[in-house]
Amino acid sequence: MTNADIRIFKDNNELSLAASLLWVESAREAINARGRFLVVLSGGNTPSGLYQLLAEEPYRSQIDWKKTSVFWGDERCVSPTDEASNYRQAMDILLRHVPILKENVHRIKGELIPVDAVNDYAQLMEGFSDPGLTWPRFDLVLLGMGADGHTASLFPNSDETESSPVLAVSAHYQGRPAQRVTLSPHIFNSARTIIFLVTGEDKADVLNSVLNGSFMPKRYPAQRIQPKDGKIIWLLDEAAGSKIT
Ligand code: 6PG
Repeated sequence: MTNADIRIFKDNNELSLAASLLWVESAREAINARGRFLVVLSGGNTPSGLYQLLAEEPYRSQIDWKKTSVFWGDERCVSPTDEASNYRQAMDILLRHVPILKENVHRIKGELIPVDAVNDYAQLMEGFSDPGLTWPRFDLVLLGMGADGHTASLFPNSDETESSPVLAVSAHYQGRPAQRVTLSPHIFNSARTIIFLVTGEDKADVLNSVLNGSFMPKRYPAQRIQPKDGKIIWLLDEAAGSKIT
């Protein structure tokens, strides 16, 4: 990925500020062009700073929340009130504090058995689909990356030949819930803009391999994210970006 758009910030605060500006810009462009803004949220700790900023002025009122619809890139199979729920995280930090319409918040139903949650979300994707696809072309997708190179819930050694847009996954990572549901690269890669938010020294080596190493998507699933007709922006803190060659 030699020509990757990589932006390095002092810390998560600076990174979150940059991400807020990109969110505002992406929402404006989408609403001007298509009358709505479809955004996919990520779980993990890194986007919390961004979610918090978006819930506050000046960003809160720079976004047309009534024309915004949110989705999730992945979810842990827990109830929506569980501390580990990605939905709960975004609700608590961001969505409860902004005038988004309830019917525009589209969570993955982590409380269902994985196969049912997958079918439910795949059906939802189909309901929003763009011509020629069984899912929408999202305006903005937020993604994180784990120290093992996973992104969303696409973990090392997972099947790369899958054709389904939504998948059930079982994987252990940092004591987080192992059963998960994730969108697949098919959906991510048709997005208009993808923003990776990556912080922390523990990710530095793997991040350099993802960006500059050979293509080994089984080992580094983040390499599977390559938008077909959209852009990808890497927002890193200095620690995560410290090994980039
Ligand atoms: C999840 C995520 C996952 C996350 C990475 C990075 O549900 O856990 O969507 O892919 O983005 O694990 O997490 P941190 O931001 O906490 O490092």
